[in-house]
Amino acid sequence: MTDMTPLAEADPSLAALIAKDAHRQRSKIQLIASENFVSRAMMEAVGSVLANKYSEGYPGRRYYEGCEVIDEIENLAIDRAKSLFGSDHANVQPHSGSQANMAAYLAVLKPGDTVLGMRLDQGGHLTHGSPVNFSGQLFNFIGYGLDEESELIDFDNVRALALEHKPKMIVAGSSAYSKIIDWGEFKKIADEVGAILLTDIAHIIGLIAGGAHPSPVPYADIVTATTHKALRGPRGGLILCTDEYAKAIDKAVFPYSQGGAINHQIAGKALCFKQAATPEFSAYAHQIVRNASVLADAMAGAGARIVSGGTDNHMFLADMRSIDEELTGKEAATLLDEMGVTVNRNSIPLDPRSPFVTSGIRMGTAAVTTAGMKQEQMVTLGNAVVEILRKRHDPAVLSQLRDRVSELAAQFPAYPVDFNGYV
Ligand SMILES: Cc1ncc(COP(=O)(O)O)c(C=O)c1O
Repeated sequence: MTDMTPLAEADPSLAALIAKDAHRQRSKIQLIASENFVSRAMMEAVGSVLANKYSEGYPGRRYYEGCEVIDEIENLAIDRAKSLFGSDHANVQPHSGSQANMAAYLAVLKPGDTVLGMRLDQGGHLTHGSPVNFSGQLFNFIGYGLDEESELIDFDNVRALALEHKPKMIVAGSSAYSKIIDWGEFKKIADEVGAILLTDIAHIIGLIAGGAHPSPVPYADIVTATTHKALRGPRGGLILCTDEYAKAIDKAVFPYSQGGAINHQIAGKALCFKQAATPEFSAYAHQIVRNASVLADAMAGAGARIVSGGTDNHMFLADMRSIDEELTGKEAATLLDEMGVTVNRNSIPLDPRSPFVTSGIRMGTAAVTTAGMKQEQMVTLGNAVVEILRKRHDPAVLSQLRDRVSELAAQFPAYPVDFNGYV
């Protein structure tokens, strides 16, 4: 029972809030493309006594005593990451994806250096040169984007910009692109202009681990990632690189941009790399992709325009104007959440509306796949989402649809119904 736990005794208000969010996660259908449900084993690892230890430095080279076991754990995580992705080197200490990108840039760039990255409004991440982010302030980022017609990465534009600006680095990777990324094309362009190739696989790392998306490791000098999205690991970052950059990357993480390693998080990373190396995880990664494709097709069949013409990965953007010219991403996301389907609003390419309002929503299928949903449920869900948006002014229809959604959520709970969210 919740009120018997040490946390419930020490802080009933906090315990109640955690239980409330566990209920939210269970009772709505979670389609935020960057989210997932961790396993109970993961909760044990990240809730462990490893949180107590200071361990600045790296295995065998620490600034604190008592790190023998921490060294073994970090080496386990490093070895598993290297073996899972086939990389020369792995740094498992970045606290997040943004920290991984910061360290990777600082390892090889000087302030003011020119970098080519995908524009935020075309699917890039804040850390790919947005002016409100350190990346856009410290470095001279030049943005590339999608072809206006096909909404696919415009490699002619990437190449032309690379030849014009001679960047020191090219960043490939995205937060909202739904098609396969051709790493080989990026590598060719990087080689042509002598740029370092950094691939940011924060979103698709789980698909790559499971063999459901090509890996950039054979092409990239540096690969950055998060561990908490499709990979189903703890919140955190990861950097993989070739031997050539290993020393510079390690120094840029610690002592340059971070302090003590978060050891309970690193233990969680060790666990997720083990879990991701199994045939079950590979089947799961392929199911995520199948689910996204069926969900996108169902929505397209019901009349929603899917950006880039569909999806080959775990996510996609839907253009709300195809449902109703007046409908914004903001209004759609708010209504869907009220109806029990949680998504986020997202700019679409050439969006005339502000990033706060937007014309799109982004949807991803990692979490619902973890909850056990398959193609059949994606068809139901895709049709329900479009119907909710179309009938948004009809309370009677909305009420029926809300029941349909909550029945579906109840059939596929991410955690047992009596789970309090923490033990
Ligand atoms: C492509 C990409 N890179 C980096 C990040 C940053 O990760 P974090 O939120 O852990 O800082 C994200 C997060 O969504 C992302 O999509």
